[in-house]
Amino acid sequence: MLVEAARKVRENAHAPYSNFKVGAAIRSADGAVHLGCNVENIASPEGTCAEAGAIAAMIAAGQTEIAEVAVIAGGPAPVTPCGGCRQKLAEFAAPDVRVTMATLSGETLVMNVAELLPGAFSAAHMSGR
Ligand code: THU
Repeated sequence: MLVEAARKVRENAHAPYSNFKVGAAIRSADGAVHLGCNVENIASPEGTCAEAGAIAAMIAAGQTEIAEVAVIAGGPAPVTPCGGCRQKLAEFAAPDVRVTMATLSGETLVMNVAELLPGAFSAAHMSGR
């Protein structure tokens, strides 16, 4: 299950500054699962989100189509991807792709990519250049 894969990779997160570990798992169109966790840096803008790591792993594996996403973190409510990660997901995911956001205690929130990023900037906006 994708949430369980995200839960496991979360343990590897490098989050000594925020103390907020996040895990992400992406299933690509071929069925493979790609994992990512947040990797913080003492120079804070250089840190990367779990979702970005999972996307990078998917691309490195030669897959370009996201079929499903799971994200998990500690905290009282299911973690929602940051704005930048919503745009990164939209690059490789159709609007109806399901994103399951979970807490460690098992609460989940399910939204699709279009709900997370309504009005996403897309290639259509650049047509007719
Ligand atoms: N973070 C993620 O990795 N993904 C999210 O969806 C939300 C936030 C990370 C970034 C940073 O390392 C820490 O959580 C606190 O913002």
